[in-house]
Amino acid sequence: MTNAPQLLVTGGTGVLGRQVVGRLGSAGVGVRVLSHSGKPGTIHGDLLTGEGLERAVRGVDTIIHCASSPFRKARQVDVEGTGRLLEAARGVGVSHLVYISIVGIDRAASYPYYRVKLETERVVESSPVPHTILRATQFYDLVLMGVRFLERLPVMAIPRDFPGQPIDVGEVARCLVELALSGPAGRVPDIGGPEVRTLAGMVRAYLEITGRRRGIFEVPVPGKTARAFREGALLCPEHAYGQIRWEDFLRSEMRTAVDRREQVMR
Ligand SMILES: NC(=O)c1ccc[n+]([C@@H]2O[C@H](COP(=O)([O-])OP(=O)(O)OC[C@H]3O[C@@H](n4cnc5c(N)ncnc54)[C@H](OP(=O)(O)O)[C@@H]3O)[C@@H](O)[C@H]2O)c1
Repeated sequence: MTNAPQLLVTGGTGVLGRQVVGRLGSAGVGVRVLSHSGKPGTIHGDLLTGEGLERAVRGVDTIIHCASSPFRKARQVDVEGTGRLLEAARGVGVSHLVYISIVGIDRAASYPYYRVKLETERVVESSPVPHTILRATQFYDLVLMGVRFLERLPVMAIPRDFPGQPIDVGEVARCLVELALSGPAGRVPDIGGPEVRTLAGMVRAYLEITGRRRGIFEVPVPGKTARAFREGALLCPEHAYGQIRWEDFLRSEMRTAVDRREQVMR
């Protein structure tokens, strides 16, 4: 019996990856975390250059691939980097790679990052390494980041008629772990949160729960990508997998913030 990790999580230091690593740990699965920025407790590997990937995949049976770089060299890191990762994985006989993608990337392919995700899916599908691809909707954390950015001004300008079906990242992590511990399944059904809501509706709920006061101004956004979003490109109402609602998530975030403050005061 060996203690060698059997499972590699790329992007295991990120918003989704941290949840995946935590769940695997609780399930008693040996985990190795890939990081290009040298975070503690990780193995070094850079998708951009390929450096360290061969060492990172050695002894690994399954990879959960969460790493991504939407704002810097996205094509080189995501598309080409995934090719480099798969090449290393093929070399050591990895038997399963699970890739996390985004609902509606084909319906809103005018958005550059979504084109990159779509091309990355093609790279995964054309590799000899057996795979599973899961597409999820936007995480609540991402929506909250956007809302916090907008609330810096006294009046919040919100795109008009943008529906979303965001999901709790922990629920995505749970699904990914289940898929990783099962066999390769190709492209599996999309997953989304429990409700379809407009962005403006989510902002109003945020203001109500946090007790903040801001004006809301709904702006029509021109362009192809905005039209696709308005027409529901990012939704999968027939696959409402998540149970945790936006309000539940916000209350839990507020409780965590209070706990942290109390710990600092102690
Ligand atoms: N956010 C959403 O709403 C959402 C929705 C659906 C699907 N997804 C998908 O879920 C995945 C994870 O998203 P996230 O929001 O958790 O991302 P995130 O927090 O930004 O994490 C991205 C991770 O990628 C790693 N990374 C970046 N550049 C790298 C490189 N050159 N080599 C190796 N690792 C690199 C980073 O690790 P180090 O800095 O430690 O190297 C980081 O842990 C992405 O594929 C995303 O497209 C996201």
